[in-house]
This record gives sequence, C-alpha cells and structure tokens, in this order.
Amino acid sequence: MEFDLSEELLAMQRTVRDFAAREIAPIAAELDRQPRFPWPTLRRMGELGLLGLTTPEADGGAGLDTLSAVVLLEEIAAADASHATIMSVTSGLPQALLVRHGDDEQRGRWLPRLASGEWIGAFCLSEPHAGSDAAALRTRAEPVPGGYRLNGTKAWITGGGEAQLYLVLALTDPAAGARGVSAFVVEKDQDGITFGAPESKLGQHAAIATSVTFDDCFVPLDQRLGGEGQGFVMAMGSLDGGRIGIAAQSLGIARAAFTAALDYADEREAFGSPVREYQGVSFPLADMATRLDAARLLTQRAAWLRDRGYRVTKEASMAKLFASETAGFVTDAALQVFGGYGYSRDYPVERYYRDARVTRIYEGTSEIQRIVIGRQLYRDRGRGR
Ligand code: CAA
Repeated sequence: MEFDLSEELLAMQRTVRDFAAREIAPIAAELDRQPRFPWPTLRRMGELGLLGLTTPEADGGAGLDTLSAVVLLEEIAAADASHATIMSVTSGLPQALLVRHGDDEQRGRWLPRLASGEWIGAFCLSEPHAGSDAAALRTRAEPVPGGYRLNGTKAWITGGGEAQLYLVLALTDPAAGARGVSAFVVEKDQDGITFGAPESKLGQHAAIATSVTFDDCFVPLDQRLGGEGQGFVMAMGSLDGGRIGIAAQSLGIARAAFTAALDYADEREAFGSPVREYQGVSFPLADMATRLDAARLLTQRAAWLRDRGYRVTKEASMAKLFASETAGFVTDAALQVFGGYGYSRDYPVERYYRDARVTRIYEGTSEIQRIVIGRQLYRDRGRGR
C-alpha cells in the first residue's frame, strides 16, 4: 500500500494551495457577508484547469485522476467552501455525466466550455417535495415532436441563475418510477426556464442556490443524455463521484478550522502558559487531527478505487459520511478552542462552523449515506470488499 502522493501531485497541490491562499482566502469573509457568485475567481480557476480536473484532455479538461482531484479540491475548500462547492458540482456532476454518457456531439458542444470555466454547470435532481427520496421527483418531460416539453420545479440548485448549463432529471414515464427518469441538458437562455431568488442560507453564501422552474420548456431530442429511463441510474452513478468530492470539501473546511485552532492555542496564554499546554485544549486538538487523518484516508481510498475502475458506491458514501461528520466535529471543537473569539465574526472559525454544516445534508444526508452503505454491505459481500 502506498501512502505517498506522487511528486507531480505534490507540486500541483503546492501551486493550488498558493493560488487559493493568494486569490480566494482573502475574499472569503467578504463573500460571506456580501454574497455574490464569485465569477472572477472562478474564471481564474478555469484558466488553471481546476473546473474540469477529471474531464479528459480531449474534451478540454485537465485529464487528471480522481485522487488528484480530491487533493486539489481540499486546497480550494480550505480557502473557501463556496468556491469548492461550485467546483465540485460543476465538474463532479454535469461534466462527469457528459463524459460518461454524452455522445460525441454533446461532448464537443458542452464539455470544453464547462471544463474551461467559461460555463458553469448545475445539477437539477432535488425538488421541493423530493430531496432524500430522489426517485419521487415530479418534473415531467413529455415527449413532443422533435423533443420533450419540461414542466416542474427543482429546488436548492447550486449555481441557479448563474450557471449556463442545467443537467435536469425528469420523468419521461411517470408510471415506471426510478426507471421512468431521463436526463436532459437545458441551457440557461432557452425559453421556459426561470430562477427563484437566492436562498437565504446558514453558510456557503457565495454558492448561490435557487429554485429552477421549467414551464413548457422545449428541449430538443439531441439534448437528452443517455437513453430514456436511464437518468436515475446515471444520476446515482455520478453521485458516487460527487460524494467523494464533498468528502474532500469537508476535509478542506475542517483542515482550515483545525489549523486556525492549532495556531491560536500556541499564541493564546492563560494561567501563565500557552493554552496548548492544557489537556483541555491538547486533547481536542489530538482528536481533531486523528479524525482528519482518518477522513482523508477514507476519501483518498474511495478516489483511488474509483481510478481503478471499481464501483465505489459504498466507499464514496463512507468517505462522505465520515468526512462531513468530521467537519462538524472539528469546526465545533475549533470554535471552542477560540472561546469567545470563536463566536465572533471577527475570526473565521464561526464561518467554517456554518459552512461545514451543509456537508452533512447535500449530495445525500448522513442518514441517506447510512442507507446506501447498509444496502451495499450485502451487495459487496462475497466480492472481497
Ligand atoms: N450506481 C448505479 N446505480 C445505482 C446506484 C449507484 N450508486 N444507486 C442506485 N442505483 C440504481 C439501482 O440499482 C436501481 O436500479 P434497478 O432499477 O436496475 O434496480 C435504481 O438505481 C434505483 O435505485 P434504488 O432502488 O436504490 O432507489 P431508491 O428510490 O431506493 O433510492 C437512494 C435510493 C440512495 C435513497 C437515492 O434516492 C438517494 O441517493 N437519495 C439522496 C439524493 C441525493 O443525494 N441528492 C443530492 C442532490 S445533488 C446536490 O445536492 C448537489 C448540490 O447542489 C450540492
């Protein structure tokens, strides 16, 4: 078993860490207070290849493996969680689906724009009444001459109103349940697509999320991705990758909080000594470091297995579950190390605490991850995993 990252990946990690520290971290607090979709820095990330990391070079991407992607995503998340969410969604869901299921024409039409960051992609699965129970979606794609007519509303769409491409899951056969769901690409400027106001959220304010409504939105046949009825399975397969991305993002947020607590415990004195000398502080720091390492190992293992062609449904859910719960633990414990200052908006720790919370909710709640792992335990039995 090899735990070292390659020299090449370590060099990329240093480059991205420097970039994120120089260009993203300094604007994170301001974006939190005055939320806006961070187009200028996203463009820079696009120039660096960070918005199409695993998209093949032939499609305009960086052509990296999943392990590289999670290492680099952690660096962006350590600087700002909102940037990491946008990065994870645009590359991990719409692009990954286009790479896996798009025909040559569809790949050529959309992937170079997405991978370069000229366009951002959004993923439209959740609906107001169908979050965890994703197969209960109601958005309808009714076959009409030359294509489909979409009607329905999607909820919590990261990049809503900002993204130029929407990967939409909709029912082509309402009687067939999950097997009646198909996937479509809808462009922002098509007739019949409108966006709600940005949701008012606890954290990750710059990762603007809105509802997206389709009202007799005509989608030509060549904008259906994959076959009719294949959309749900395709979406679940892409979430296997997406969830590894959210695990990496959780790690980045947690690492930022841990590093801040480590520095503070060294500087802050009480009762005549730096507070790190007291077990009340050093034990939580030890627990944070241990859980962070365990979360990183699970995340990188899931990525490593995916790169070797394994189905990683279980491992991705384990990584997402553990890393997001770790982010909750670490950001909370870091805030405690800071005492009253942790509760103040003058320090970044309360932002990490708020930003981390949603990692236990989106791309499948912790409860859904446990359902997925529980089911997969029996499916993987006898396969040596
Ligand atoms: N890979 C491939 N196929 C899969 C799969 C996977 N990981 N998971 C399920 N499938 C297949 C099943 O094999 C089944 O296929 P068959 O019809 O051939 O048997 C089909 O999909 C239906 O699967 P289930 O019977 O397991 O479906 P279910 O209704 O019981 O639901 C669920 C399963 C795991 C609970 C699913 O609904 C789920 O993951 N819910 C959470 C939804 C979610 O994660 N939403 C995230 C929204 S995106 C987001 O948050 C992005 C953002 O903006 C930040």
